[in-house]
Amino acid sequence: MRILVLGGGGREHAIVHKLAQSPRSPEILAAPGNGGTAGLARTVTGLDIASPEAVTAFARDAAVDLVVIGPELPLVAGVADSLEAAGIRVFGPGAAAARLEGSKEFAKQVMRAHGIPTAESEAFTELAPALAYLRRVGAPIVVKADGLAAGKGVTVAMHLVEAESAVRECLSGRFGDAGATVVIEEYLTGQECSLLAFTDGATVVPMVPAQDHKRAFDGDTGPNTGGMGVYSPVPAVDASTLAVMRDLLVRTVEGLAADGIAYRGVLYGGFILTADGPKVLEYNARFGDPETQVILPLMASDLLDVMLAVAEGRLADVEIAWRDEAAVSVVIASGGYPGDYETGAVISGIHEAEALPGVTVYHAGTSVRDSDGALVTAGGRVLNVTAVAPMMAEARDRAYEAVGLISFPGAFHRGDIAVRALAATPREA
Ligand code: AMP
Ligand code: GLY
Repeated sequence: MRILVLGGGGREHAIVHKLAQSPRSPEILAAPGNGGTAGLARTVTGLDIASPEAVTAFARDAAVDLVVIGPELPLVAGVADSLEAAGIRVFGPGAAAARLEGSKEFAKQVMRAHGIPTAESEAFTELAPALAYLRRVGAPIVVKADGLAAGKGVTVAMHLVEAESAVRECLSGRFGDAGATVVIEEYLTGQECSLLAFTDGATVVPMVPAQDHKRAFDGDTGPNTGGMGVYSPVPAVDASTLAVMRDLLVRTVEGLAADGIAYRGVLYGGFILTADGPKVLEYNARFGDPETQVILPLMASDLLDVMLAVAEGRLADVEIAWRDEAAVSVVIASGGYPGDYETGAVISGIHEAEALPGVTVYHAGTSVRDSDGALVTAGGRVLNVTAVAPMMAEARDRAYEAVGLISFPGAFHRGDIAVRALAATPREA
């Protein structure tokens, strides 16, 4: 079986790594992949992965049996629809379903129509009514570009002036078309938690919950990032809270189905645990990054089996099992991230880190240097150092032990990933 995985971050390395363990021994192609997928998959260069025509032509010519779509851009662009129309199996929703991620206002409409709790909000395309609304409701308040803005479209404004400038920037084209509509949203407080589910549009099977750390520095300070570390499971989520979150994902899929939209792939719910219960902050139409780097290592079942079942609409026939263990992943980033940073630094110590029990180092932004084959940095977030162990404290210690063995000039990481999980449970000896 030949599989094409689209994307080149830590998430895609984790997907390729897990697929490579399948008893079906698939042949894997990664487009574009990275320095970590290079040893597990054939690297495909020069393919425009957000082009439905290009991906479909490539998959047909290369006789690919299953295409797995990692990032949001190809999903929103309709790559899955094009593959399906060509009779090629695909893991990932079509454009109509991916609008859940591609348009925050569409997601709000779905939530409103189907009674899914979320922050109160209003959408605007004109400056004057948007500013009038802001002044009426006051701060703190959250301002979001409607469309995809690579994680940069959200401003949590503690003061009105900040909210006003975010609205002005958004509507004056800072995010291009993605900001033509601005969504102004009630500010909610509580711990955040992600729950992802596999779904074929009828059956919804949740994964283990995970908690990301979005701020750049310790103690949740500094600018927002794509995620600096993550752990799973989440002690703050008890069984009844988990049941509510799960139910909200089921109602989302059922609601879309009732509206004539079949959702096949991963539905990612970004929840905030408020005093009134879990509410949905956002949906993603794909695996989370870096959540996947702790979720897939805890999955006991064959990912390929599950992906094929999703693609073929027979998820109800598949059992998905999870290890009763904990996983912690720490991001090592390039100095300066999420602002400007340098690339091309030589990375050492990965081999030593992976010799530790339960440790896997997923590559997020690395490449293999052409001149001498050295592994070098190629992005802001460079590595995701994941450790799996029976207890959270052990997984955390092991992950940090591994981080200590890896170095490159300018590297930095947060020192407090999963501290919250330890505080919530008696610390294991
Ligand atoms: P989003 O991309 O919509 O998940 O937003 C990015 C981050 O902004 C979230 O992970 C939250 O930390 C924060 N955020 C988004 N919406 C809200 C809200 N309504 N209230 C408080 N914080 C929010
Ligand atoms: N970790 C958040 C995301 O994947 O969007």
